[in-house]
Amino acid sequence: MRVLVVENYEEMSREAASLFQIRIEEKPGLVLGLATGSTPIGTYKELINRYQVGKIRFQQASVFNLDEYCGLDKNHEQSYARFMEENFFRSIDVDRKNTFIPNGNAKDRQAECERYDTLIRERGGIDLQLLGIGENGHIGFNEPNDLLSAGTHQVELEQGTIEANSRFFVTREEVPKSALTMGMGTILKAKEIVLLASGAKKADAIQGLLSGKISTKNPASFLQLHPRVTVIIDREIADAIKLKQDVA
Ligand code: GLP
Repeated sequence: MRVLVVENYEEMSREAASLFQIRIEEKPGLVLGLATGSTPIGTYKELINRYQVGKIRFQQASVFNLDEYCGLDKNHEQSYARFMEENFFRSIDVDRKNTFIPNGNAKDRQAECERYDTLIRERGGIDLQLLGIGENGHIGFNEPNDLLSAGTHQVELEQGTIEANSRFFVTREEVPKSALTMGMGTILKAKEIVLLASGAKKADAIQGLLSGKISTKNPASFLQLHPRVTVIIDREIADAIKLKQDVA
């Protein structure tokens, strides 16, 4: 696992964008796995800037998103479909026929999850997966648990995750309690993974990810089994981890 410590959020975003740029230059038909949340927004902005000055094109690329809430219309302000549209897709030249996200409103959610995994397989698998990380170590919406799921599946969100996400909704009651997410196997099958984290509140989760131990209580720790992962963290996280190690 390659760990890159950068000064701040902006540098993290530039580093991630550069990795995407290199991979798309190498393979214009790249299959991307993308994430939502506040962490990747800077990366999307940076990629949009580079697109606008002609440094990168997405015309031949495909995108599979990690997850989607259940029970929100895809046009709902807080749906991840809308997030991707507003923060990325509408500002680049990606072909909408090649952008995919699980349908959290599907009547048969089990069938929807199977359909999603099949689609990824049919496109040759994900070449480069972008990940953020939850404060509890969740990736996508794979929450800490005794058992984790391999394929795309429906998940009940943890109270802490619901609270963390409630900042985007008017009332807490509105925050969805479940979601469809790529599973651990779906994520780990990506040929390359880049995980981004900034801010001291992610320090515990990152410490677990770098611990050399694997636990279902920190789903991100499974990334240690993958041969091609880059973790980009800011100085705040690096310092917080070091402080804890010094005290221990
Ligand atoms: C959500 C998403 C994750 C994301 C996480 C962290 O739960 N499903 O994909 O990594 O939140 O979000 P943020 O980047 O806003 O801290």
